[in-house]
Amino acid sequence: MNWPEHGSNPHYLYEALNKEFPDNRVDFSANINPLGPPPLIKENWNSLLSTISDYPDPNGIELRKRIAKTEGLDENQVLIGNGGAEMISLIGRLLTGQRALIVQPAFSEYEQACRVNGAIVDYHQLTSGSWDLDLESLHKKLRDTDAVFICNPSNPTGVYYSKPVLMELLFACRENNCLLIIDEAFYDFIYYYESLVEYIEEFPNLLIIRSMTKMYAMPGLRLGYLLADARVIERVAKFQPQWSMNAIALKAGEWCLESEIYRKETINLIVQERKRLFAFYHGVQFNVSPSETNFYLLKDPVLDDQIPLFRFLLDKGIVPRHTMNFPGLEGKWLRFAIKAPVENDRLMEAIVEWRNNHSSSL
Ligand SMILES: Cc1ncc(COP(=O)(O)O)c(C=O)c1O
Repeated sequence: MNWPEHGSNPHYLYEALNKEFPDNRVDFSANINPLGPPPLIKENWNSLLSTISDYPDPNGIELRKRIAKTEGLDENQVLIGNGGAEMISLIGRLLTGQRALIVQPAFSEYEQACRVNGAIVDYHQLTSGSWDLDLESLHKKLRDTDAVFICNPSNPTGVYYSKPVLMELLFACRENNCLLIIDEAFYDFIYYYESLVEYIEEFPNLLIIRSMTKMYAMPGLRLGYLLADARVIERVAKFQPQWSMNAIALKAGEWCLESEIYRKETINLIVQERKRLFAFYHGVQFNVSPSETNFYLLKDPVLDDQIPLFRFLLDKGIVPRHTMNFPGLEGKWLRFAIKAPVENDRLMEAIVEWRNNHSSSL
């Protein structure tokens, strides 16, 4: 069967499984802020209409300046794009014909972007359960690679790798003349997250990808950026199509940067809900990944392959993210976004029903 490559757009999933698409559904397969877009965007939405009658600034200079200021960087160390996904794609161009090492399981676009550009891809496969980075064995592979991709906090596990651990990796990458690409698409859901941004000046081999579509709930609008040494930014920018970011996204991005209270409210909600969900899963003897962000992996330990549970939930209009295309997971876990309390309640009720019908083998 042809499993959809990403979460969201669940009609493709129901279609692939030949299931009726339920009206009353909750989509847990995309990790988007359950509070929706920030109030500043909602309140000022009508004013955005006037921006579409002219070409957007191809450099997004206003937003670029603001991001640079927020991050303590120079504006030529920032590149804005059409979502984090565009940044990954542009980095793929940079790696044409080179060797890339991907810390797996990981977002599938890293491999895709490398392969279409003829890069040779190798994996550093983490052990399921803890998903520890295992730096010793990772370091040994650096001699044979030009770039390492790592997602922090990791999609799909939600595991957070601390600053000292990533610093060690950054030093090792520099010694081995290789790039370290850290995808921080979900960094802003962790209030104690410590980025390596301050090392960009000192380490021209460090590239940091950010997405504004998750925390600010605007995946349909598209906005992301890359932070790196000015020379790297200049090279990557040459691959970017003209007017890649639309005028609405550029303006909305400025409001997102002013939405710090909303971001804090979001984190509080996620932390509370994660506690509640994890206590529940513990009670019903399900396994969860040690996530510190707004999604997690889940499995019923009674099953090796989670497809029966997956189908059961889909029939109830609850849409998990399958893990068929995550190397090392391959259907042995399901991924869920942390959503609003009422939606998480609905998921927990369904799990209770599943458990009541499938507890005999425990
Ligand atoms: C780890 C990771 N990086 C980057 C992206 C791309 O995000 P966007 O292009 O919406 O900014 C995603 C989207 O799901 C993701 O999960």
